[in-house]
Amino acid sequence: MNTLKTLTRNFHSCGHECAKVVPKNLKGRGKSSQEWLTRQLSDPFVEKAKMMNYRCRSAFKLVEINEKHGILKPGFTVIDCGASPGSWCQVAAAETNSNKAQETKPVGLVIGIDLLQIYPIPGVHLLGNADFMKDETQQNVKSILCERKVDCVLSDMAPNATGIRNLDQENITKLSYSVLRFAVLTSSVDASLLVKLWNNGDVPQLEKDMLRFYKTVKMIKPVASRSESAEVFMLAKGFLGLKS
Ligand SMILES: C[S@@+](CC[C@H](N)C(=O)[O-])C[C@H]1O[C@@H](n2cnc3c(N)ncnc32)[C@H](O)[C@@H]1O
Repeated sequence: MNTLKTLTRNFHSCGHECAKVVPKNLKGRGKSSQEWLTRQLSDPFVEKAKMMNYRCRSAFKLVEINEKHGILKPGFTVIDCGASPGSWCQVAAAETNSNKAQETKPVGLVIGIDLLQIYPIPGVHLLGNADFMKDETQQNVKSILCERKVDCVLSDMAPNATGIRNLDQENITKLSYSVLRFAVLTSSVDASLLVKLWNNGDVPQLEKDMLRFYKTVKMIKPVASRSESAEVFMLAKGFLGLKS
């Protein structure tokens, strides 16, 4: 029971994230709460994230993608959309050296945005209580950038699921296009864009639209992403730049 309390108190589930050890005391809990705890306790990424001080198991999705595709480097400027509780920002701060942990390496800039409040993370500019879809939020990000071009835009944003499939799909697609538009307007040539999607009918069109601006577009399902989850990531690399 103590383990359960500790897990639920100190560790974020990232919405639908996070664990097969069967917890002993599940009395009085609803079915979905029981399933969540069971999943949580059986998930190796949950334990690993606690050991490595990541706020959330989602960190390993970005770690894996970055190891394979090299999208984060020391000195890079990174925008993290849908950043709460902050594990992607933690990874980005370490990889870009925005936390100045490596004295001899260039220092990057990481900006994290979320509808929710985010506890401070060393080396990261955080915009909490901010809706990325609002022009005001994007202007705030641009004023932090101060003409600096972006090397990598990340989006792990997910709308609150309404349970109405078509509406949920429409909402996540809207988020993706908002991120694509922002990335196109702020990125440096050769920059990358990583966007979370739910594998739905809009994916081929989004892929086509991304290919107008990037050299390559790839669908990725990281090992840390649960197989039963519809989430996939679209990685666009090699931003071609805007003609004017
Ligand atoms: C799966 S969580 C992100 C986890 C994060 N990548 C991490 O590693 O800690 C998705 C986040 O997207 C945020 N989100 C959804 N819609 C948003 C919007 N319009 N603007 C900003 N954040 C949004 C949610 O509040 C939620 O915190």
